[in-house]
Amino acid sequence: MTKDEQKILAASTAIDTLISEKKIFSGMKIGLGTGSTALPAVKRLSERICDGTLQNIKAVVTSFQTENYCKELGIPVFTLNDREIGGELDLTIDGADEIDGENNLIKGGGAALLLEKIVAYNSKAYAIVADESKSVKTVGTKFPLPVEIIGSARICVEKALNKLGAKCVLREGVRKCGPVITDNGNQILDCLWENPVDAREMEDKISKIVGVVEVGFFTKLKPVVFIAKSDGSVEIR
Ligand code: 5RP
Repeated sequence: MTKDEQKILAASTAIDTLISEKKIFSGMKIGLGTGSTALPAVKRLSERICDGTLQNIKAVVTSFQTENYCKELGIPVFTLNDREIGGELDLTIDGADEIDGENNLIKGGGAALLLEKIVAYNSKAYAIVADESKSVKTVGTKFPLPVEIIGSARICVEKALNKLGAKCVLREGVRKCGPVITDNGNQILDCLWENPVDAREMEDKISKIVGVVEVGFFTKLKPVVFIAKSDGSVEIR
């Protein structure tokens, strides 16, 4: 199976498994992630709404990308602040850039980490869908850790991250001059360490740097992870 086929398989298996285990059911408030694996999950969710399995699903999205897709598919979109949602979600489903053996994650490859973390940390349950390339021994040494920052504090934040051993690169736009500007008006530093770091400890340390808006280590939740493999199997852990 190609990587794209694995993404679709992981996404469909996750939605169908969670429905059959009654962890997704009618009336739920669901957080929807961003990226090329989260979107097939949104698609599968819409198919299960269209076939009548699910009714009255309320979605909270994590990016303009996912908002546009939900609107295209007819899934009703709310914000966490809406009365119907009341700041609490039943489940969030999302992709990831790296997943270690303890289901610690790196997220933010699509620069949507801030809303992705807000929905995840305010959900009763959390599910991650991924192709097998996302599974790693240690997070943070292969895929650069995205850190969302206030643009005017870039140099100060970069110096503080250097002190924590990270080499940082400001994420540049594609077909747009200058840095990527996130959906929240901020910028992204992509950070890499030469040697493995303790992701849990580093999430806390980076969060405390003034000028950091959010960090792409997600270590405080233990999501259920659906990893599709090239042989067509799906590991659930
Ligand atoms: C966006 C994310 C995505 O979930 C992550 O980058 C994985 O994306 P993809 O499924 O396209 O590989 O964190 O901010």
